Amino acid sequence: MKLAILGAGAVGRSVADLAGEYGHDVVALADSKSAVADDAGIDVERALERKAGGEPVGSGAPEDVFETDYDALVEATPTTLDDAKPGFSHARRALEADRHVVLANKGPVAERYDELRALESDSAGSVRFEATVGGAIPVLSTIEDETPQAVTAVRGVLNGTANFILTRMAAEGLDYEHVLAEAQDLGVAEADPTFDVDGTDAALKFVILSNVLADGGFSLSDAAVDGIQNVPGSALDLAAEDGRTIRLIGEATREGVRVGPRLVPENGALAVSGTRNIVQIETRHAGSLHSSGRGAGGPETATAVLSDVGRLE
Ligand code: HSE
Repeated sequence: MKLAILGAGAVGRSVADLAGEYGHDVVALADSKSAVADDAGIDVERALERKAGGEPVGSGAPEDVFETDYDALVEATPTTLDDAKPGFSHARRALEADRHVVLANKGPVAERYDELRALESDSAGSVRFEATVGGAIPVLSTIEDETPQAVTAVRGVLNGTANFILTRMAAEGLDYEHVLAEAQDLGVAEADPTFDVDGTDAALKFVILSNVLADGGFSLSDAAVDGIQNVPGSALDLAAEDGRTIRLIGEATREGVRVGPRLVPENGALAVSGTRNIVQIETRHAGSLHSSGRGAGGPETATAVLSDVGRLE
């Protein structure tokens, strides 16, 4: 596949770097608003050197990307809410040109799922978005393999930053502000971690899951969302006395989406540590399927993008 990548952050650059290992060629890489900075990095340059033909656009604007000869657009620009622009517009443009779209950007899938599917049905291209949920964990492909109709619910931990904060607060008795600063220093939290701690990032992922289970109909405004900002250390201490802890747990069903801090058994499957994610898929005929792993990070999320590219027809 010839890949055009929009979004030159950690995920876009990692896709560019790893594409060759998966047998794909990168023909374009650009930032969503402007040219990729000159310091885009050696990995990107190496990836662009692996291209199969045509001139690479390593420093182009989105316009240049759409002019290239590509098979699949990788949309990895930052997630935006409501109208989900510019990500949604990028996806529409590629589908209208009968190209495939692989999204790492959660906005279009959470906020405009039905429109995205309508565009897909009029296009020779397909839409895939494994990277939007659970980073390296194959959540959507597992649901696809089971068939969405056979899945009744998906629950778990889908935000690594919030999980890291709760883990550190419980283990070390540190306060929220201290651990949040630590997460930012380590590069785990975003510079603006609001969506991580207020539950929005996790809710977007569970909205996407409900959309997959119900074949659409959900957006963030349908979700009941609570964050971890107001969880005091004393609550974690009290929970520990009872062999329990607190995690930011979400649940997606065909009926709705809920995300909030919940008490879970300290040694139970949902009490994953640090930045890990866990997903439990409840099926009609095969019980519960559990997967845990790295839910964020450039190379981790890039593996989900490239696995989607491999599934395109
Ligand atoms: N910032 C998110 C997390 C990853 O901490 O899990 C991207 O959705």
